[in-house]
Amino acid sequence: MDMAREAPASVEIEGLDIDLGQCPPQARLPSNVRFRQYNLLEDPPNDMVGRYDIINIRHVILVIKDDDPTLAVKNLIKMLSEFSSNRVSNGLLTPCTRTWRILAMGGV
Ligand SMILES: C[S@@+](CC[C@H](N)C(=O)[O-])C[C@H]1O[C@@H](n2cnc3c(N)ncnc32)[C@H](O)[C@@H]1O
Repeated sequence: MDMAREAPASVEIEGLDIDLGQCPPQARLPSNVRFRQYNLLEDPPNDMVGRYDIINIRHVILVIKDDDPTLAVKNLIKMLSEFSSNRVSNGLLTPCTRTWRILAMGGV
């Protein structure tokens, strides 16, 4: 929510959590923020694959089963945009102009 206030309005921020019970109603959110229900241990739906330029994940260690984060990390990588995947793998982390889609796992 703090990021939404500071970022340009063109930045879209989505908060994902398995349980949206604690999230404020959409009407009280900044226009560039929304929440979606998602289980990190399941395949992301098609419209979330390759969608996000930046993924921030914090304090969801309890989600990891048997001390093996492989499944969760694979699902997160599926959701990273081709643009960001290429920039990371090529070491191209220079600023650029585009509409960013940011995903915050486990709420914003
Ligand atoms: C300790 S809270 C952290 C919330 C937030 N990320 C933060 O840093 O303040 C853990 C969150 O993970 C969510 N969670 C638990 N299992 C999950 C799963 N399989 N997929 C997605 N979210 C999950 C819980 O609902 C809870 O909101």
